Amino acid sequence: MDIKSCIFAGNIAKMKLDQEIKRRRTFAIIAHPDAGKTTLTEKLLLFGGAIQEAGAVKSNKITKGATSDFMEIERQRGISVATSVLAYEYKGIKINILDTPGHKDFAEDTYRTLTAVDSVIVVIDVAKGVEEQTEKLVEVCRMRKIPIIVFINKLDREGRDAFDLYDEIEQKLHLKITPLSHPIGMGYDFKGIYNIWEKNVNLFTGDPRKDIEDTIEINDIDSPELDELVGKQAANTLRDELELSLGVYPEFDKDSYLAGELQPVFFGSALNNFGVRELLDCFIDIAPEPQSKESDTRLVKPNEKEFSGFVFKIHANMDPKHRDRLAFVKIVSGTFERNKPYLHVRQDKKIKFSSPNAFFAEKKEVVDISFAGDIVGLHDTGNFIIGDTLTEGEVMNYKGIPNFSPEFFKYINNADPMKSKQLYKGIEQLMDEGVAQLFTLDFNGRKVIGTVGALQFDVIQYRLEHEYGAKCSYENINIHKACWVEVADKKSEEYKDFARVKARYLAKDKHGREVFLADSAFTLQMTQQNYPNVKLHFVSEF
Ligand code: G4P
Repeated sequence: MDIKSCIFAGNIAKMKLDQEIKRRRTFAIIAHPDAGKTTLTEKLLLFGGAIQEAGAVKSNKITKGATSDFMEIERQRGISVATSVLAYEYKGIKINILDTPGHKDFAEDTYRTLTAVDSVIVVIDVAKGVEEQTEKLVEVCRMRKIPIIVFINKLDREGRDAFDLYDEIEQKLHLKITPLSHPIGMGYDFKGIYNIWEKNVNLFTGDPRKDIEDTIEINDIDSPELDELVGKQAANTLRDELELSLGVYPEFDKDSYLAGELQPVFFGSALNNFGVRELLDCFIDIAPEPQSKESDTRLVKPNEKEFSGFVFKIHANMDPKHRDRLAFVKIVSGTFERNKPYLHVRQDKKIKFSSPNAFFAEKKEVVDISFAGDIVGLHDTGNFIIGDTLTEGEVMNYKGIPNFSPEFFKYINNADPMKSKQLYKGIEQLMDEGVAQLFTLDFNGRKVIGTVGALQFDVIQYRLEHEYGAKCSYENINIHKACWVEVADKKSEEYKDFARVKARYLAKDKHGREVFLADSAFTLQMTQQNYPNVKLHFVSEF
């Protein structure tokens, strides 16, 4: 090819990359269990024609009360591979929904997934309002300034007053809301939704098969047509409430939403497929395309020619005989191509992937090319750990997949001395997958497992036995929190004293970072007071 044709081909490739990036929306739906995340996901897929009937998306939640049912855990693992990424096309937009586990014991998995999304939709149950899990997840989104849309679900049921919910969302979630739809009645009296964004009324019939485009344009809220549609009383209530709503809450402003400073609110009923089309249409209109991401050397833009990405999730094979795993890579920039060698930065080695998987509605397929914003699944025989960066050659690492202090801690012991090699290999690989965190005590080398939920201890024991043929036992240890230690001068008298007094409570995490395992909130407080220059963090990145 001559130089002119080369430049021409390069420009075409760049244009194609720009176009592909612009039409991608990568997001997660987060909710407290039972708020309707699975139902909403399913309805969003129905709109894209990605699935044909309701009930096709399996719930990834662990059945209530099944905390020690191992078959249930395996079933959950199987489903979550299939639904890890649900990708489909809607009105020319490539939608990538990243699934997050509903069970609170897997919260850390959700936090990591949030590092790979460009926005989120939060589902809230109209009767229950803001629940505990929602608060925690939204806090992580707020910290990262991820744009959020709120969907208040189950309007077909009796629930709380819209303004009551707005107050709660603002107070408990610390969000600044801008209502983009408003309910007309509720529960038994639910008549429909006024869509502030599109300025039309969608009447509720309770029939989930109702024509999704069946909305009535109402350009003037004072028009008598509204009285005819919903009845005089409901129409007047709507007018009053809208006036109040528009008076109190700021108008929608896209830049503020994108900056994570303003959060639009929608109402609907996912089960009845009501208000979902409005949500989706607004979402594809306003939600951000793939965003730039900070690495340890520079800010990387999605439309850069060269590929880069990071591993945010690792999934072990369901078949214990084959220990290969699937590493989920979020493409931050450029295109990922099959059989092209990429640099595994941490290991400083080039790796080619002959069968990268892309994800579609509910299946994965080998693809030749994927674009920034997409997720690729790479078969891995133990090269990857969560947080690893892949590039086309540039040496840099993506930041921002921190570990949080676990909530539960136990010593882990080898219960079968003949299988110690298997045990340590198993522990190491499960930690790489992010199932739990491992701390090694400095003074005696004993290993402590820290988890977000009690369920993980059973998962680890079960998987060590079934996948690695190793047996472990646990022993209680009294630890309240793990804190990562930051100190400017390790030679200072203050640090030396800290290290001497707290010697029995100092450990290393999997990456060799120093951690202080505080046995109570009181100890933690006293330590902070006594050693003001030894900074203790609940997150591994600071
Ligand atoms: P999750 O993934 O957030 O945990 O919630 P999921 O979608 O599984 O929904 C939890 C329950 O709420 C389900 O009922 C679901 O049918 C119901 N639901 C979801 N959206 C709506 C809605 O708009 N209106 C009403 N009335 N119910 C809704 P379930 O009885 O627990 O399960 P199932 O037997 O119906 O599947």
